[in-house]
Amino acid sequence: SFLEMEVEQINKGKYEHYMQKEIHEQPESLTTSMRGRLLRGGSCKAKSVLLGGLKDHLKTIRRSRRIVFIGCGTSYNAALASRPILEELSGIPVTMEIASDLVDRQGPIYREDTTVFVSQSGETADTLLALEYALENGALCVGITNTVGSAIARNTHCGVHVNAGCEIGVASTKAYTSQIVVMVMLALAIGGDTLSSQGRRGAIIDGLFELPSKVKEVLKLDEEMKDLAKLLIAEQSLLVFGRGYNYATALEGALKVKEVALMHSEGMLAGEMKHGPLALVDETLPIVVIATRDSCFSKQQSVIQQLHARKGRLIVLCTKGDAASVSVSGSCRVIEVPQVEDCLQPVINIVPLQLLAYHLTVLRGYNVDQPRNLAKSVTTQ
Ligand code: G6P
Repeated sequence: SFLEMEVEQINKGKYEHYMQKEIHEQPESLTTSMRGRLLRGGSCKAKSVLLGGLKDHLKTIRRSRRIVFIGCGTSYNAALASRPILEELSGIPVTMEIASDLVDRQGPIYREDTTVFVSQSGETADTLLALEYALENGALCVGITNTVGSAIARNTHCGVHVNAGCEIGVASTKAYTSQIVVMVMLALAIGGDTLSSQGRRGAIIDGLFELPSKVKEVLKLDEEMKDLAKLLIAEQSLLVFGRGYNYATALEGALKVKEVALMHSEGMLAGEMKHGPLALVDETLPIVVIATRDSCFSKQQSVIQQLHARKGRLIVLCTKGDAASVSVSGSCRVIEVPQVEDCLQPVINIVPLQLLAYHLTVLRGYNVDQPRNLAKSVTTQ
């Protein structure tokens, strides 16, 4: 009806689609997710993190033999992005489980495990079944959800609310970046505040404070991503190569492209390139390579060289100022993004890929907010 249309317009404000609105409101949603949880005292006071919903369980979590991340879709990818920093700060092995696969295998879950259930809606059937399974096996169950009062929030022993605000677009965007930030805070909370880790922890906390303004900066790539989308509009396929902190960025970037732009896209671990994907490379297939500055940078530089040697059509996502050191030829397209602390870089790097998926979808004439065959919350198996 006319009234419904009006209300919808108001909710979307100046934006044409919810996905577009949600991409652009990330500086605000990230701020809300961190509000009241980061403490940055004076010069003598240590910087620290306060997650109220976890504080009574931190001791148990620190004593656990293993941490298991469980989720589906974008929520799984957000957990994957946070895995390296959780391993680094906690020293506890962290394993990843796609919820349906854990249940299919009836994989081993023990009383000494901490299981972390990540879900935007908090109602995903597969994740709920995995939660039931972990509860039966006696594991400590932690929920990371964006929906207060959801089934996963209610049925876990403890947890953290993501507080990204209501997300309407079926393709998750702002919930993804907020989930990562919440799980980085989780890593800070679980990791002990030892003298040797103080520098690293302080840098991450400072990085978290600066993150919303850095995201604002990277959102200025909107027009550039629209131009890139015009270039890719008629492609059949798009590969995305990442590794380390940004393996998840590759998976999530590809997921956005396939789910909304309805274009075949695969995120790949760059370290596996030689074990198969390299056979696909020719002068026609576009490939995004994520090569921002971190401990994997030189390895990604050599990946770029090897792809170039096979005449790959490269689009390189790199740190501002690095265009010359990553582009092996004039034909290589470069997207430059601001540098942040390595474990927070996935939050920055996904933004241009979200924008690319959004513009590709609009240009290809598909439904942005409700892609065919998909649902925001999959409550059936
Ligand atoms: C569906 C949605 C995805 C989402 C996934 C997991 O597939 O379309 O956007 O990532 O479910 O949902 P959850 O609410 O558990 O994060």
